[in-house]
Amino acid sequence: MLNYDAGQGEWSNWLVTETGFDPAHQGKGEAVLSIGNGYMGLRSATDENYVGQVRNWFVAGTFNKFDEHEVTELPNAADVTELSITLNGETFSLEKGRTISYSRQLNLKNGELTRNVVWQSPTGESFELQFRRFVSLSNRHLVGSSVSIKPLDGQARVHIASGINGQWTNSGAQHFTEGEKRIFEKTYIQMTSTTTQSVVDFVTNTVHHWQLNGAKVEPELRQTMGRRKVGIEGTVTVEAGQSVTLEKISNVHTSRDLVYNNGGYSLEQMRESALTELKQESQKGYDQLFRESANAWADTWSTYNIEVDSTSGYDQLAIRFAIYHLVIMTPAHDNRMGIGAKGLSGEGYKGHSFWDTEIFILPFFIYSNPKIARSLLEYRYQGLDGARSKAKENGFEGAMYPWEAAWIEDGEVTPVWGDVDIVTGEQTKIWSGFIEQHITSDIAYAVWHYVQSTGDEAFMDQYGYEIIFDTATFWASRLEWDENKGRYHINEVVGPDEYKEHVDNNAFTNHMAHFNMELAIQYYEKLQQEKPELLKALSAKLDLTSAREAWNKLDQMYLPGPNEQGLIPQDDTYLQKKVIDLTPYKNQTKVASIFNDYNLDQVGEMQISKQADIMMLFFLLENKFEPDIKRANYDYYEEKTLHDSSLSLSTHSILASDFGNRPLAYDLFRRASEIDLGPHMHSSDAGIHSASLGGIWECVVMGFAGVRMLDGQLHLDPKLPESWSSLKFPLYWQNQLLHITITAEGILIESDAEEEISLLLSGQQVTFSKRFQTLV
Ligand code: BGC
Repeated sequence: MLNYDAGQGEWSNWLVTETGFDPAHQGKGEAVLSIGNGYMGLRSATDENYVGQVRNWFVAGTFNKFDEHEVTELPNAADVTELSITLNGETFSLEKGRTISYSRQLNLKNGELTRNVVWQSPTGESFELQFRRFVSLSNRHLVGSSVSIKPLDGQARVHIASGINGQWTNSGAQHFTEGEKRIFEKTYIQMTSTTTQSVVDFVTNTVHHWQLNGAKVEPELRQTMGRRKVGIEGTVTVEAGQSVTLEKISNVHTSRDLVYNNGGYSLEQMRESALTELKQESQKGYDQLFRESANAWADTWSTYNIEVDSTSGYDQLAIRFAIYHLVIMTPAHDNRMGIGAKGLSGEGYKGHSFWDTEIFILPFFIYSNPKIARSLLEYRYQGLDGARSKAKENGFEGAMYPWEAAWIEDGEVTPVWGDVDIVTGEQTKIWSGFIEQHITSDIAYAVWHYVQSTGDEAFMDQYGYEIIFDTATFWASRLEWDENKGRYHINEVVGPDEYKEHVDNNAFTNHMAHFNMELAIQYYEKLQQEKPELLKALSAKLDLTSAREAWNKLDQMYLPGPNEQGLIPQDDTYLQKKVIDLTPYKNQTKVASIFNDYNLDQVGEMQISKQADIMMLFFLLENKFEPDIKRANYDYYEEKTLHDSSLSLSTHSILASDFGNRPLAYDLFRRASEIDLGPHMHSSDAGIHSASLGGIWECVVMGFAGVRMLDGQLHLDPKLPESWSSLKFPLYWQNQLLHITITAEGILIESDAEEEISLLLSGQQVTFSKRFQTLV
């Protein structure tokens, strides 16, 4: 079980604690307590091995395709965390002997994972073991770990086998060919390996330091080398009450690292520089390296900190937890990389990026660290060629973004086959890669959202216009003329609600495609007026004269609107489908329980939604719909929505805030936060839920505080949950940092800059410089 209130004083609402070890529930702690820095993610498998454990170490962007029948994925790198500990001949294992006490803790404030165990071996001898681990935020290649062992009853021979182990796979797929293994100076251990298809070289180094009661000690040492394995075995005799500590400092470098992007790469040189770095860094020792990383965390928190005064301390912790993971999942150092749907915390979704990034995570960065938002959009710009190839292969023009994206040149990487079909026993076909096309306009929307909020014109000139123009061109070529109705349709798609496949005129898809084309026309006209030279250059590249003509099709496009009951049909057939009693599935303890009774084809014939669909439209294009229409549709569709995607609850919470239903908004926020932190012990097995964590931030800032960018203006319309007495958060608007404090008594906005700030506060225009305060 996880516990959230162990932190006292300085650590209050900063600690996530696992209170016991259960071999059946290892996935939960491994993912939720995972550590990383955006360059790498280290899943928190315990040091010692257990059946059912998933030991993962991913380096962002190092995608490899196992064979032609599979899609590319992040390969599971050679491991440095595994320890085999033998105490007076008994292998340390929590499945043997007696666990007298156990606690494992992730400190969100400084990024350290610790575990304290008192264990009695099967022969009745007791030991105290303390494990520590961190991934450095100050040196992105570095991992530190340490174990201290104290025999409590008598002298003990402590034996530890450690090193680098390249035998790990991605669920059986081995992505590496073995390179060279080497132990330098009987001390520095190195392994090289290369991904089989993408030919990315990895160099992994590790070094061990032993101490007895704080003083350096030389263990009896044996060097070991096996297949895909290199390491050491050390033995130390420890008296009762003494403590032996093994510190292990490791690093990893790959040929995909940005420094090698412009050529000049050689494996030899990378081996040498990685080893030199390890030698220098490891001299500092665990404590100092950890302090350096903790300082970097302190800086990070000063950028992102949100403070909440709630009757439940859990709310504060849940927000910190979300931000912690948003930081460690994001490859902010490299604009050739995106964010995985499970971050870097598990094999789920293979490290691929979805619309999750642009719609659920990007707002966090737009409003709290716009530089990183830019880098994430640059990643999409670099994916344009892949998007153009996808359009061409499908008979369209312009840029059709892949539903799932990996390395910038890969194009579409969505797997084709998924889970079992309980009726036929075959694998269910995944249609998203072929026909879930709204990702293309989601990316255009994100570009617009970014530039409207930051004013980053340079980004638009270099990247943004091209994305918006070429995605609009895709949509213009994608529209289908309906002779009977005399209008353009978009047929045969999957909308956000993935329980409806091959539908015509999914409202979200049509409206967002229309928005994308409308945006292109507006920007085209703007460039005609303001930057004709740039327009000329872009025209030469993208044939904008005929594209501009094609975008006009939007005038004849079908945009699903409210029927007589005020309901917007989710697609052409949704509202005619059968309605069944969903109560048992709405009360499910595990998502997707509907598939215990029906297959996807059957679910497709009923009014059942996986996740927010039209609700997403209301959130993204909120000006286009009347409040009473939004409300009526919310009530109708929510009843039919199983929230089987982790992307669903946060959007519903934000809309509930918009409706002014504070208890509902808060309840949905809590439920969203429990997707990873809640009592369900398997929900995070494949990794944490990136979009849901971005959604937590959205619930708070865009929902409770009511922050929105509408018509290029900043809006603030706070509706704090009844149990919150204050909310304080940083917010970037047009390159200026604001500090916003909302309490029951009023609102305080402080700005670091001299310039005037203008915004709409609960609908009223206010303009100020430096400081604005209002009482309610
Ligand atoms: C959801 C998608 C989402 C994907 C990755 C799916 O289950 O339906 O909307 O993009 O997961 O998180």
